[in-house]
Amino acid sequence: MCGIIGYIGNKPALNIALDGLKRLEYRGYDSSGILVLDNKNSENGGKYNVFKSVGKIKNLETEIADSVVAGTIAIGHTRWATHGKPSINNSHPHSDCKKNIWIAHNGIIENYKTLKKHLEEQGHRFFSETDSEVLAHLIEEFFSHNENLEESVRLALKLVKGTYGLAVVSVKEPDKIIVARSGSPLVLGVGQNENFVASDVSAILNYTKKVVYLDDNEIAVISGSDFTIKDLNNEPRKKEIQLIEWTIEESQKKGFPHFMLKEIFEQPESIENSLRGRLIVEDGLAKLGGLENVTEELRNIERIIIVGCGTAAYAGRVGEYMLEEYAGIPVEVEIGSEFRYRKPIIDKKTAVLAISQSGETADTLEALREAKRKGALTLGIVNVVGSTIARETVAGVYNHAGPEIGVASTKALTSQLSVLALLTLFLGRQRNMSLTMGKRIAEELKEIPQKIKIILKQNGTIKKIAKKYKNSKNFLYLGRKYNYSIALEGALKLKEISYIHAEGYSAGEMKHGPIALIDKNFPSLFIAPRDSVYEKIMNGMEEIKARGGKIIAIATRGDKKIARLADDVIYIPKTLEMLTPILSVIPLQLFAYYMGVSKGIDVDKPRNLAKSVTVE
Ligand code: M6R
Repeated sequence: MCGIIGYIGNKPALNIALDGLKRLEYRGYDSSGILVLDNKNSENGGKYNVFKSVGKIKNLETEIADSVVAGTIAIGHTRWATHGKPSINNSHPHSDCKKNIWIAHNGIIENYKTLKKHLEEQGHRFFSETDSEVLAHLIEEFFSHNENLEESVRLALKLVKGTYGLAVVSVKEPDKIIVARSGSPLVLGVGQNENFVASDVSAILNYTKKVVYLDDNEIAVISGSDFTIKDLNNEPRKKEIQLIEWTIEESQKKGFPHFMLKEIFEQPESIENSLRGRLIVEDGLAKLGGLENVTEELRNIERIIIVGCGTAAYAGRVGEYMLEEYAGIPVEVEIGSEFRYRKPIIDKKTAVLAISQSGETADTLEALREAKRKGALTLGIVNVVGSTIARETVAGVYNHAGPEIGVASTKALTSQLSVLALLTLFLGRQRNMSLTMGKRIAEELKEIPQKIKIILKQNGTIKKIAKKYKNSKNFLYLGRKYNYSIALEGALKLKEISYIHAEGYSAGEMKHGPIALIDKNFPSLFIAPRDSVYEKIMNGMEEIKARGGKIIAIATRGDKKIARLADDVIYIPKTLEMLTPILSVIPLQLFAYYMGVSKGIDVDKPRNLAKSVTVE
């Protein structure tokens, strides 16, 4: 997830673009850049200035310092790295070979390797490691034949597979910005003798409240006085101008009151991004580019140790069950803080897989370093590109879940689970997994984003349930097999966001102790989808009921039996047993969120916690 801003009008564009980037910083801040173009009619017509810097927007501001730049056209970009580390060379805007055409891109160009190879054969020189840069050269290639920027952008986009929110300018046509969208958001801002484009309205609300949202496969040509919108086949599209009433703060959160809620609701999209280009459903295969350099070593490993902390470790535990059941590889899960101080037995046939959203968690990082010292093959599942864990592992898979701002891990977890399912498919098919089973997993995984949308529709019901239990002082979260770890995660989420004491337990273990706690004031939350342990978990529910305990259940749609036992039920769609955690955790995130909000807690920044724990 990156942020794009564009301005064209009669005012100096540099500071307007910088101001827009500051408002888009929440979308990522690995690096940023602005390209300012002088208007056709000015004395410098066709000249440009470019500013780039690594890290937060304040670094770009320092870089710009007191520069006086008169140009009245600008495109700017704040980067959340996906392909290529955070660096000046990888910062947008990117240019073609001759520095005539400049682009700012948000999204992923899936077929960039093929396009890049083809363009290099035609003599194009690339300056960055990004997927985005191919767009500039592809447009250049068409422009060299037709000398028409709009047509060149259109023809280039017809060759592209993947997602884009794109802004393009050229020194050859310095009176327009061409923008296009497919899968990554873009909105036009309509002003008086000036127009804007941005990844979201927060970047332009200071200047105009009148906006036009672009839809997928639309291209717009914006000048200072006008704009036109067409589809990729050159057919004009008629669009309504809308009036925005949000404040800037509200718009960064896309109208959600907290980042946490926004991130919960983003999960269909973030999982889609984690899976994009990686599932070959018809062959029942997973394609993981980040593991290509260790494919042979992976064929020979005899054991995996997964390390992580907090939510990431719980993701690892689900991964353990997936990998053992479907890929037939022995797996152990360890929390980083334990692993680093004991004497784990590791050899060259052991792969140590670190899972981390931030890629900076000190305990996970040190565990990884210890594994490396002992000769293990080190792998990572990491969200933040270029982070320390990503750099220090030999190979790995990026989550591509986009920045997670809320302290509570939500969309990072479901992305980690999705990537673990991909890894299971990848390693399973290398070993003994049948084509039929591979296809089944791939098909079910592909359906997950759609199923999450169904769960999110129960937001109102979950809010009501949270209200009903808001005065409870304790909770027991219970699950078995794949959902045992989700019981631990649900309890953690409730603790961190609402400060309510919650214990996560295996439902099978409950009778060995925790059942002593149960009375009418100690509710239990059961994760009980219709899976291979359903009957067993129902026994546990009967035992709680018999002791007067209140029960909230997460159940599979259509399960009438559970409704007779539980006081409140939240339904999830049916899926493959190993994928149920990706669905069952969603109601638990919402439940924790509403419990926290009902107590007036700042759920995005709960007390004593940090988003990235870089100390022991
Ligand atoms: O960045 P990481 O994934 O390495 O972070 C690990 C934990 O600190 C993190 O998951 C923490 O438990 C979250 N606050 C949970 O919501």
